[in-house]
Amino acid sequence: MKPLSNKLNGIPASMTLAVNDKAKAMQRAGLDVIALAGGDPDFDTPAHIVEAAVSAIQNGHTHYPAPMVGLPQTVEAIAHKMRTENNIPIDDPRRQIIVTPGGKWGLYLALAAITNPGDEILILEPYWVSYPSMVTLTGGTPVPVSLPSEDNFRITADRLRAKLTPRTKAIMVNNPCNPTGRVLTLAERDAIVEVAQEADLYVIADEIYEKLVFDGRSHLSSPPPPAWPSAPSRSTASPNRMP
Ligand SMILES: Cc1ncc(COP(=O)(O)O)c(C=O)c1O
Repeated sequence: MKPLSNKLNGIPASMTLAVNDKAKAMQRAGLDVIALAGGDPDFDTPAHIVEAAVSAIQNGHTHYPAPMVGLPQTVEAIAHKMRTENNIPIDDPRRQIIVTPGGKWGLYLALAAITNPGDEILILEPYWVSYPSMVTLTGGTPVPVSLPSEDNFRITADRLRAKLTPRTKAIMVNNPCNPTGRVLTLAERDAIVEVAQEADLYVIADEIYEKLVFDGRSHLSSPPPPAWPSAPSRSTASPNRMP
């Protein structure tokens, strides 16, 4: 049989799945192990969501949506959430929002939309293990920006600037962060925007855990720094914001 694509062969197996499978196997063997690898809450989907999904299927909502970016009510609800909770100006929801089956796909699409072969994408380290593979699959080069644990993984403009080259295209920011659980400060948010403006970079904002904050609040894109009016338009994706 002919080989699979070089791109796919260059991608290592998912470490998340490997750790998760191992933890599950240990649980089956009777060991007292808590599986923390997968980003899966420890509660079932709330009943009102399950009921709404079942009723939609029973009522024939099983076709392609029109427009294809998502059901108009869903797109409008996301636009409302982003305007009121995140202070992100959404003037034309059908052009600015795409509903995807999960955050991973949303991030991949954002990368695919901006990456040309050889473009460099900055990834803040420690990072969620899927980021480098996604960048590689879209033809880009992942460039880790190492954030030292001795400095509480702090993001500074100089740490970002040290990795810039003429090929740098975007910064991927995950806030709150998987795996550290850390929430970035306003000063760090401003450092990211400052460097993005200086070097004309996109910011891919992965705020999937936006609502999982125990004290204070998560504020990567909410509200955008008023001193930088172009900041919202640099943000290509904030997938899976939980309503
Ligand atoms: C930081 C981060 N972003 C995105 C995702 C992907 O989420 P989804 O399951 O919605 O594709 C995960 C899942 O673990 C994650 O940890």
